[in-house]
Amino acid sequence: MYLSNFRGVAKLLRRNPRWIRVAYDNLSHQLIYKISSGKMNGWSHPPEVINAFVTDICNLGCRECHYANSDKPGFSLNLVGHMDPRIFYRFLDEIPGRPLVSFTGGEPLIHPQIFDLIKYAKNKGRMCTLVTNGWFLEDKAEHLCKSNLDLLSVSVDGPRLTHNEIRGKNSFERLEKGLQKILEQPKRPTLFISLAISDKNYDQLVATYQLAKKWGVDGINFNHLWMQTDEMVEDLNSSTALFAGDHVGWSVNNDDIDIEILADGLEIIREISWGGKMIVTELPLLNRQEIYDWYREPTKPVKHQTVRCGWIRMKLWADGKIKPCRDWEVGDINKEHANEIWYSQGYQQFRHLLNEQGMLPICSRCCFIAHR
Ligand SMILES: C[S@@+](CC[C@H](N)C(=O)[O-])C[C@H]1O[C@@H](n2cnc3c(N)ncnc32)[C@H](O)[C@@H]1O
Ligand code: SF4
Ligand code: SF4
Repeated sequence: MYLSNFRGVAKLLRRNPRWIRVAYDNLSHQLIYKISSGKMNGWSHPPEVINAFVTDICNLGCRECHYANSDKPGFSLNLVGHMDPRIFYRFLDEIPGRPLVSFTGGEPLIHPQIFDLIKYAKNKGRMCTLVTNGWFLEDKAEHLCKSNLDLLSVSVDGPRLTHNEIRGKNSFERLEKGLQKILEQPKRPTLFISLAISDKNYDQLVATYQLAKKWGVDGINFNHLWMQTDEMVEDLNSSTALFAGDHVGWSVNNDDIDIEILADGLEIIREISWGGKMIVTELPLLNRQEIYDWYREPTKPVKHQTVRCGWIRMKLWADGKIKPCRDWEVGDINKEHANEIWYSQGYQQFRHLLNEQGMLPICSRCCFIAHR
């Protein structure tokens, strides 16, 4: 988030002051990590975020999406199906702390009981976010707004033609109608759009920012492209025996991105959004040199030299499996208590590994380092 978006932040907090608690939790987790990591002997405080992959079903097949390009269960689409709500309820009952729940997939709005899942998490006092491709948004808008969801993020990969080229025919028109319906509701979640930067849209960032302003959403996020090269996987597999990485066919074409145009676009957005009411985030927030390194030298760590995902995040997959990284399973909610899994031998080994290496070879462009 740009510090200059103070009016947007004030608006966000007026709408939902509980974001202060989320910021507090994030800062305190960061502090604990800084002070104690490496000395905790595999121990961790309770998780800060739950990533609930409530379904692996998706109606689209986006080119940049790692799930759409893998055939590994738990790291792919359309193999497992929808999460049984009982798995989710049990997990939430058992999990310690007060983690934020991030609903994702696949396409989470395809889950037939998605509103029951949100309701359950809200009744437990959890802050909830959901990220969607927007295809089903118009139909579900009213229900979503009544669900007390805290933040809705709609993936928009550019203006109409660009978005449809990346995500498929009509997907822009459908999400636009959905956004309008959400904005019309008397009570609604904080509404962001999120763009995954790629070779197809790196020159469309300012245009997408203007579109977001025209729509009147509360914020826009730019995700620097997540990727994984064969070299990263080979390095991982030769450096650790704990789990093996997969050669996910990730067709990201990072070399085709003109870095100057991309960096200029982000700089213009920083300038024109100064003092504005719309929040702008870049994940991660990079300077020009870091942008160059991010796209041209994917194996080089940028911005962060360590990863915190073993201490802050628990990923619950549609079948109830807990997988801290890629397809590596450390527990199953159908058989074990969530708290036991969080403190299990597998999780402890994972934290030891991250402590020893700081970062694994596959971490440098992973979404979980970008959303640190
Ligand atoms: C995997 S999708 C799941 C939720 C939903 N299906 C959607 O598209 O919003 C979550 C987010 O990941 C983003 N994403 C997918 N692949 C990416 C990549 N290689 N780099 C950056 N963001 C990516 C999507 O744009 C989307 O905003
Ligand atoms: S809609 Fe989301 S989950 Fe589906 S392929 Fe696209 S990015 Fe991946
Ligand atoms: S940041 Fe690294 S350890 Fe965490 S999920 Fe990504 S690749 Fe795995």
